[in-house]
Amino acid sequence: MTQIAFTWIGHATFLFEFDDKKVLLDPYITGNPSATVKPEDLSPDLIVVSHGHGDHIGDVVSIANRTGAKVITNVEIARWFGKNGLKEGLAVGTNTGGTYDAGFVKVKFTIAFHSSTMPDGASGGFPQGYILTAPDQRKIYFAGDTALFGDMRLYGEEGLAAALIPIGDHFTMGIDDSVRATIFLQPKVVVPMHYNTFPPIKQDGAAWAERIKTETQATPVVLKPGERYVLAE
Ligand code: NI
Ligand code: MN
Repeated sequence: MTQIAFTWIGHATFLFEFDDKKVLLDPYITGNPSATVKPEDLSPDLIVVSHGHGDHIGDVVSIANRTGAKVITNVEIARWFGKNGLKEGLAVGTNTGGTYDAGFVKVKFTIAFHSSTMPDGASGGFPQGYILTAPDQRKIYFAGDTALFGDMRLYGEEGLAAALIPIGDHFTMGIDDSVRATIFLQPKVVVPMHYNTFPPIKQDGAAWAERIKTETQATPVVLKPGERYVLAE
């Protein structure tokens, strides 16, 4: 088995570990009121970006240029990073439905219902989520910023060890729809994200966890920013 662990940096930023390899999702650390680490504390082997909003891409260029980590994202955002300071050769453009195989993890890009404009107003293509597949074939779904959608059932059919879903409301689905999403996804473990960073997305994590326990089969895992969780085998 692969040892799979993840740390919630805060907001939608997670640092995943697959044995000794690290993947950073949607790095937003500088200016993130809930982050307890600094960008220079992180040395990922790979960075993955779901969409073009500032609260998902803020620290991509500085971390990638320092570490040489490849940045996997959609083609529009990959091209934008190339024009906005990312070292040549680090951006890898993909698109929805496609899979990038990094060896220690496979990243499949899933649909998400949201927007994806870059900070300067350029088009960031379509927003995405990911399914991460570990070498032992366990799968983790990261929904990205999204509304509820019925095709989450299709991702659930893949058999998910964990799902990371937004609950903040206002910019993404809120608590009611996150409970329905959990029923569609049928993950063993469900982790809330994209909440409590700013006033419009304030939510009660404990109340959410109670609803997940009573209304779904999944185990809720509410992390504090900076907290690391090891996925049971
Ligand atoms: Ni967004
Ligand atoms: Mn966001």
